[in-house]
Amino acid sequence: MARVLVGYGTKMGGTTAIAERIGEVLREQGHDATVVEAGKARLTGDYDAAVIGSALYAGMWRGPAKRLVKTLARKRPEMPLWLFHSGPLGEEQEEKWQAFPKWLRELEGSLDVRGKATFGGVLDHNAKGFIATKMFQDGRGGDFRDMEQIAAWAAGIAAAL
Ligand SMILES: Cc1cc2nc3c(=O)[nH]c(=O)nc-3n(C[C@H](O)[C@H](O)[C@H](O)COP(=O)(O)O)c2cc1C
Repeated sequence: MARVLVGYGTKMGGTTAIAERIGEVLREQGHDATVVEAGKARLTGDYDAAVIGSALYAGMWRGPAKRLVKTLARKRPEMPLWLFHSGPLGEEQEEKWQAFPKWLRELEGSLDVRGKATFGGVLDHNAKGFIATKMFQDGRGGDFRDMEQIAAWAAGIAAAL
């Protein structure tokens, strides 16, 4: 049994369900998973591993998720870490791998990254902000999160732990 921190960054809430599904699968497989918004995550607990992810905005991670990865690199660089981000909208985009931000690629040498994934995103009528509302009105909305893909990825983490 491993104690796993699942920390996520979100703006409109879509990434929360992804993190929660990952936590659920880890628990189903006998691990102790704590799912928490990245800004509220504390690395002081005795975690054995971490899964950290973020929603993508203009190719960037949310600030709290970025800070959590940076804190981990400083405080617990030896901790097994899995990374994901969520964003691509549209069926044809669903499987599309998004490049991880430059700061993260540069930091990878200081981390023990065991796996990375890109998951589809979601944009619905709760879209916040001018650009998001415009994207929704332009027909780019929809839910492209593939919960089976997410659960399968999490099952791989559970098995590796
Ligand atoms: C203004 C804006 C910019 C976005 N930029 C990207 C992007 O660069 N790459 C991507 O894959 N998705 C992008 N998306 C899609 C979001 O990442 C997607 O809607 C995601 O599920 C939002 O997550 P959240 O609900 O947790 O904030 C963008 C969405 C908006 C509204």
